[in-house]
Amino acid sequence: MRKLVFLLCCVLLASLWGCSSSTSFLYANRDISLDPDDGVFLPGAQWRDMDGELIQAHGGQVQRMPVPDGSGGTVERYVWVGEDKRSGHLGNGVGVYTSEDLYHWDFHGDALRSVPSREALDQDSYFTALYAGYTPEQLDEVFAVLGADKVIERPKMLYNAATGKYVIWFHSDGPTAKNSYYYDIGMAGCAISDSPFGPFQLLGRYRLSQCPEDQIDCYPASKGEARDMNLFQDTDGTGYIVYTSENNKTLYISKLNSEYTYLSADPEEAVYGEDYIRIFPGAMREAPVLIRGDNGRYYLMSSSTTGWASNQARVWSADSIFGAWRNDGNPCVGDGASVTFDTQSTSLFQAENGQWIYYGDRWNGENLMDSRYIWLPVQFEGDRLTIRWQSRWSW
Ligand code: GAL
Repeated sequence: MRKLVFLLCCVLLASLWGCSSSTSFLYANRDISLDPDDGVFLPGAQWRDMDGELIQAHGGQVQRMPVPDGSGGTVERYVWVGEDKRSGHLGNGVGVYTSEDLYHWDFHGDALRSVPSREALDQDSYFTALYAGYTPEQLDEVFAVLGADKVIERPKMLYNAATGKYVIWFHSDGPTAKNSYYYDIGMAGCAISDSPFGPFQLLGRYRLSQCPEDQIDCYPASKGEARDMNLFQDTDGTGYIVYTSENNKTLYISKLNSEYTYLSADPEEAVYGEDYIRIFPGAMREAPVLIRGDNGRYYLMSSSTTGWASNQARVWSADSIFGAWRNDGNPCVGDGASVTFDTQSTSLFQAENGQWIYYGDRWNGENLMDSRYIWLPVQFEGDRLTIRWQSRWSW
């Protein structure tokens, strides 16, 4: 009997030791699907839409915005846009979902579709209607950007109340004649629609702002690159694009024009500090997210640059968007903080009750469509943005 008690104690101690020496159980993936009716977030679980399909909105963004109500008007909903990774790494359409409570999500299809073949632009009625009047050369360019073998990543959407249009920007990439590497183009694509559900028409893709001549360019060989990116709409309606440039070495924030369809000024004419700024040149950050906190302060969260693998997050904050940015360090607190709880930043947004929510991707490089969405509550402690792990929580 004594032997049995001793053995049981050993097993108990061993399991306790296992728990305390390994923190991964805290934030590991779970082989369950979140049940939307439970009204809880289960970070690390699978998340399915109301048709039972895995939600396909990776590298995405959640926000409240007007959407069609089905009878000619609009209604406010949470809108989740992101990469539809059913096609794997390349040729991702932009999936759009809506929700009333942040737990139940309805899929509205790919609002910006990737183009399966060059012929589809001449033959498929979806594309012939969308690009009616385009010359063959213009259609070639659409295919060069949206073809099934191209990179379409980190799509974000803004609603422009003045024009009534919805605008998507995304990281547009692919190989060049010089280099077969899939990220050699380094541009930002822009598409527009009358509805958040599409169809979105490609307007073009661009190189963006450039390092001014009196500053040190960390990658002068390739001016105006734009890779991982995000959008931000300030309270006065001004739109901004925030992106990693200079071969991922330097983050930029550039003002958009009043329609959100291009920069506020051509890169050659843009005025540093009025149209754009660079932040911490050479810091090697990507996956940027820019918000304005309830205290009026701007917060810019980002990751380091390790592909699909997670790394440590960092936040900078500032009183004005083109002002002096302060390095606030790692916003994550507790076990797993050094790898952002095994996630990479993509969105920070507010629930209707004012609760700020962090949404990071936990990429699964082996099966990208089963990458998980990790949503965690955000607290503002003083003027610092902080994120702590929660295995189960509600807003
Ligand atoms: C990450 C980036 C992702 C994707 C990935 C590909 O660094 O944030 O959006 O591009 O690399 O390896």
